[in-house]
Amino acid sequence: MKEQVKILIEKQKLIKRVKELAEEISRDYEGKELHLICILKGSIMFTVDLARELTCPTLFHFMKVSSYGGSTSTSGVIKIEQDLDENIEGKDVLVVEDIVDSGRTLKNLTELLRSRHPATLKVCSLLDKPDRRQVEMAADYTGFVIPDEFVVGYGLDYDQRYRNLDFIGVLSFLEEN
Ligand code: IMP
Ligand code: MG
Repeated sequence: MKEQVKILIEKQKLIKRVKELAEEISRDYEGKELHLICILKGSIMFTVDLARELTCPTLFHFMKVSSYGGSTSTSGVIKIEQDLDENIEGKDVLVVEDIVDSGRTLKNLTELLRSRHPATLKVCSLLDKPDRRQVEMAADYTGFVIPDEFVVGYGLDYDQRYRNLDFIGVLSFLEEN
């Protein structure tokens, strides 16, 4: 099968929207110190580009999580593959994620982080695929709402590939003949 990537959100649109989000976040966190949690690996590009545009003092944290849960289950469980190495108690925390799909990862992750008593906890997701939602989960900041298609690029992967693309594209498979 040949793989094909068709542009869904071009580079210039990404840059513009990331800047808008950063302006909104900078306003909301004015006078505060912001602790960004980059969810590896998918949100790495987004986190870096967003952080570059923020005007409030900003610190980086990294977490790696994977999502589990049978197809019949809507509760889901996440596995923490790499945890934070600093305490977030009393801090203003913003989780930066690539996409909200079923919603399981962020729902479980925010529950876990909330149990560590940050002063505030919000979520910023570059993409939102609302048609796929299985649990109630809404990001506080969303870049783009997209249709139910499998997307790659700008951090998002298929089998670890395509993360380096500077646009978001829809991945499809073509029969070879
Ligand atoms: P969830 O279903 O909301 O828990 O999303 C879990 C993770 O699945 C996301 O953080 C992404 O890493 C990945 N994911 C969901 N949809 C896509 C997609 O269209 N392309 C690439 N990765 C995706
Ligand atoms: Mg991810």
